[in-house]
This record gives sequence, C-alpha cells and structure tokens, in this order.
Amino acid sequence: MTFFDEQTKKNRTKRMTIIEFFILIEYTHNQYVSQEVIIKLKKLVLGKIYLLHFLIFWIYYYVVIELRNFVKNIRSYKPGKPIEEVVRELGIKEEIIKLSSNENPLGPSPKAVQSIKEKIKDINIYPDNNCFYLKKKLGEKFNIQSDNITVGSGSVELIELIFKAYVNPGDEVIMSDPSFIMYRIACQIFGGKRIAIPLKNYAHDIETITKTINEKTKIIILDNPINPTGAIITKDKFNYFVEKVPENVILVVDEAYREYIKNENYPNAIDYLKEHENIIILHTFSKIYGLAGLRVGYGFSSTDIIAALMKVSLPFNVNRISQIAATAALDDDEFVRKSYESNEAGKKFLYKELEQLNLQYTPTYGNFILVHLEREAKGVFQAAQKRGVILRTILEYGLPNSLRITIGTPQQNKKLIEVLKTII
Ligand SMILES: Cc1ncc(COP(=O)(O)O)c(C=O)c1O
Repeated sequence: MTFFDEQTKKNRTKRMTIIEFFILIEYTHNQYVSQEVIIKLKKLVLGKIYLLHFLIFWIYYYVVIELRNFVKNIRSYKPGKPIEEVVRELGIKEEIIKLSSNENPLGPSPKAVQSIKEKIKDINIYPDNNCFYLKKKLGEKFNIQSDNITVGSGSVELIELIFKAYVNPGDEVIMSDPSFIMYRIACQIFGGKRIAIPLKNYAHDIETITKTINEKTKIIILDNPINPTGAIITKDKFNYFVEKVPENVILVVDEAYREYIKNENYPNAIDYLKEHENIIILHTFSKIYGLAGLRVGYGFSSTDIIAALMKVSLPFNVNRISQIAATAALDDDEFVRKSYESNEAGKKFLYKELEQLNLQYTPTYGNFILVHLEREAKGVFQAAQKRGVILRTILEYGLPNSLRITIGTPQQNKKLIEVLKTII
C-alpha cells in the first residue's frame, strides 16, 4: 500500500480502531457472560448489529475508493433541467419551455448551422489543436494577436484551466458570493482557499474585494454581469479596481453575456489588456450566438498566460464542428442583432408583467432575470414545471427565495406569465 499518502493512511487507521472496538466487545462478551446468554443476545440484536457494522466497515475499508481530500466536499454543478428529463419525469405532452440555463431562445446562429451541414462529412479527422481559423477570426474581430487568444470547450473549461495552471493548495481566490458557481467548484478541485465576498445590493462589492487582496491572493474572478443577479461593474468602478490589483494577481473577468449589453457604463475589459498583462477575459458562444450545445468559449490575455493555459489543456479540446460553427457564427451580425433586440423587448415585457404580479426583481444586464419571492422558490419552480415551464431555483447560490428566469421569445414570455399567474 505504498501508493497511499499520509492522510489516507491516517484515515484508514481511524477506521481500523473502530473495527477493533467491535472485536473487543465481542471478546468481552465471550469472557464474562454465559455462552447461552451470548447466543441469545447475538440472535436478538448484537449479532445483527455486529454483522452489519462489520459488513459496513469491511465494505468501506476494502471496497470504497477514497476521493482526494479536496474533492470530498464538492457539491456537483447542477445545470438547469434538460427538456428530455422533464418530459420523462412528468410525462408532459404539451410543448415544454426551458428558461433555466440562459440559452438563446431564438435557437442557434443560422450561419453556424449552415457551416455544420457543409462540413459534417469531415468528422473522421481530428480537429485543429490550435483552432487556427477561429483564433484568426477572433483576432480580426477584436483586434488581438492569435497568441493572446485561447479557446476552450465552453468558457467553463477555461475557468478550470486557469485554476489548474495557477492555483496551489492554499492559494487565496477572491470571488463574490453568489457568483457563477463554477468558480467555487474549480477552486475546490485544486485546493484553493475561496475568499467569498458577499454581494452588496446584488452587485460586486468592489471596495471590500479591493481591501481583501493580500500577499496570498492568487486570483480574483468576477463575472460581469453577474450570474445570477445580472448586475454589472460600472466603468468607473472597474477603472478604480484594475489599478488596485497587483501585477502578480490574476484578474479574471468573465463577460459571458457581454453581447447583450449596449451601455456606455459597461467597461470593455479588452481595453485594459495592453496595460495589464495579468487580466484574463472570458467570452462564450453559448449565449447570444446560440451554440451552448457545441461548447465553445474563448479567452484573451497576455502571451505568457495563454501559453500556461495551453500547457494544461487536453489535446483537441475543441471539436472540429464546434470550431467551424463558431467561426461562421462570428459573421452572423444579423442573428446577434435580432437576439439582442428580442432580449431587450422580452426584458421590458417581463419587467412590466412582474410588476403587475407584485413580484420583486433585480434589473438585469444579461438574458435572465432574478425574481425574488416572499417564500421558498422551490414550490413555484415545481408548479411551473408541471405546467411545462422549466425555471431555475438557485438554492446553491444561497438564494432559496429567488428564481432565475431566462428571457424567452415573446410567446415563451407570455406563457411564463400565464403560468406564474396561476401559481403566485
Ligand atoms: C457567468 C458565466 N460564465 C460562464 C458560463 C458558462 O459558459 P460556457 O457555456 O461557455 O461554458 C456561464 C453559463 O451560464 C455563465 O453564466
């Protein structure tokens, strides 16, 4: 058993002591109590309990494969329920609306779909490991060199790679609480020490975050806008903050919903890249481009950071079809415009209807709205699901009385409100 580390050995010793304790009880009974009584007792309870315990310990000792200590306490990421699962569980026949994962309700970019049709025959060939054409297109669009760009299997992969490359056990990682749940999970996987700063009025508390930075801080990771509240860091706050982050601390700015924002107060983190080599900016094709099912995210940073992320990524992490579709989607300005406009119109409609229903919400910059109820959200979630509308409870974000609702198409939004009217 030389391959077990010290902690594993200690844990096993603890369990052995408990097993020995049971053996001792057994032994004592044999010494001082008559054989007859022991047999009776054993038959009644002890035998069963002892056997049961012995069995449990035997299984635990010999059969259970122990997890790494960092991984033991991780609560897995719970995505919004897939439509197929709800159909299976509830046997619903009518059309189901999924407003739980902030996908694009208009579907995928038509240009991306067309490109897939044309290139599907090539899937016997491994993809380009360097995503050459996709990076080239991204470089042209954002005026950035290819070696300052990385592409991942969704931006969640890039989040994981950042932690994988930079976080040693015990390094401090500052994030808001709540913010996108994958930051917490990635931090736990790599043994980072999560420093969670509570939101202030549902927005990042930039002052407290700034004060919290110390010599142990390795990463600060902020979503802008925040999932699940939809609030942004404004340009003036961002200007102030960026200057306070030391050069040896990585600042990750996750702009997954950036295309939904046309507001001069919203900072474009790319503008800060030249002056600040420690910034990583994350974008995704999962939201406005409608390619969540293909898993493509990308990041911008200094050449050193990009090279470090490449070192720890698996080969061919972005598949051939995803690269082709994402490259085509970047040309689909018409689809992006339509999606933006639909989101804006849906937002206005939902604000008005939610107000009529006397429901509180946090004004959003994303494609989702955080709605606050005066009771646990789970009941409303379940009732809506039975009526064919999948919403998102966010208990794991520490908001048991709130629902996160993706802004849908006009028909979906109308159905959502009809359903809410019957429940609230
Ligand atoms: C803030 C934020 N970042 C990243 C992601 C994940 O995006 P991707 O699909 O690119 O992994 C999400 C998804 O909901 C998100 O809300």
